[in-house]
Amino acid sequence: MRIFVTGATGFIGSAVVKELINARHSVIGLARSDAGAKSLVAAGAEVLQGDLKDLESLRSGAASSDGVIHTAFVHDFSKFKENCEIDKRAIEALGGALAGSDRPLLVTSGLALLASGRVATEEDGPVPVSTSYPRASEVTAMSLLATSGVHASVVRLPQVHDRLKQGLVSYLINIARQKGVSAFVGDGRNRWAAVHVLDAACLYRLALEKGTAGAKYHAVAEEGVPLREIAAAIGRGLKMPTVSVSADERAGKHFGVLGLFAGLDLVASSALTQKWLGWRPTQTGLMDDLAHARDFEPENTKSNEGRYAASK
Ligand SMILES: NC(=O)c1ccc[n+]([C@@H]2O[C@H](COP(=O)([O-])OP(=O)(O)OC[C@H]3O[C@@H](n4cnc5c(N)ncnc54)[C@H](OP(=O)(O)O)[C@@H]3O)[C@@H](O)[C@H]2O)c1
Repeated sequence: MRIFVTGATGFIGSAVVKELINARHSVIGLARSDAGAKSLVAAGAEVLQGDLKDLESLRSGAASSDGVIHTAFVHDFSKFKENCEIDKRAIEALGGALAGSDRPLLVTSGLALLASGRVATEEDGPVPVSTSYPRASEVTAMSLLATSGVHASVVRLPQVHDRLKQGLVSYLINIARQKGVSAFVGDGRNRWAAVHVLDAACLYRLALEKGTAGAKYHAVAEEGVPLREIAAAIGRGLKMPTVSVSADERAGKHFGVLGLFAGLDLVASSALTQKWLGWRPTQTGLMDDLAHARDFEPENTKSNEGRYAASK
């Protein structure tokens, strides 16, 4: 298949591109910079220069493909609502170009607020858009299926990790650096599910190749790792104390915009996904990658500003 991948230069998207090419698919990757375009060519992909806000570029990529994987997102949490709007319009443009065909649209979402006080499953419906959770990726994909018959499905991601990046945990590491302590909320028993980036990439491929319209796939290898353990690993890595902060302190003072997630239980199962797609995660776990995280290497313990950008 010829697959259009948005976010093809990102952490997850670049792993998806490699996975697809290794499986003999051809890839058109969206790039918004010369450096991004160069990395895609090096990976063996075609390049489409464009931007999430340039809807014509998205339509053209989708129109020339046999299917779309959407992983691009503007990760500036200080403008989360605005960026969720950009994401929504992008998904609508991609879906519009696929309507009237059975070409798949695979959209990326997360696990936040799916299930309160229990393990989320693939049967849980999308989280409605609200002021506290404006991300509309999943709702938009499902609405494209309902209203225009687009073959849309969703990959829900937990914390996606390797030794370079670990999802929101990487943001916690930065906060710990700034504050001089590594923190968790309350007793730290809330848990975050996790998956290695290579296992996640494999799931995107399987979902594209044999997925069902309307399905919500969980790229979950570990159902939930306690925040207390994650914070302790960060404390060890940065050689600083690990402390508990109260739920009140959490939002504003310590975690800033990450306060939305820090105390949440983001636990999920992938039993149905594994059954439906035959997906089996095989890579290292979050705590293992965190123990060997590049963030904790001596040259990186002072500041990591610009390092993620440089690593792309
Ligand atoms: N990483 C996780 O643990 C995790 C967990 C849950 C959900 N997710 C979701 O998974 C998806 C991929 O995440 P990621 O970790 O791979 O993110 P990432 O490394 O930040 O990559 C984001 C991608 O989006 C592209 N992008 C950003 N702004 C753009 C714009 N205006 N126009 C076109 N492209 C733009 C970036 O392009 P450049 O390379 O040019 O910057 C990059 O390719 C996102 O939807 C994210 O919210 C991730």
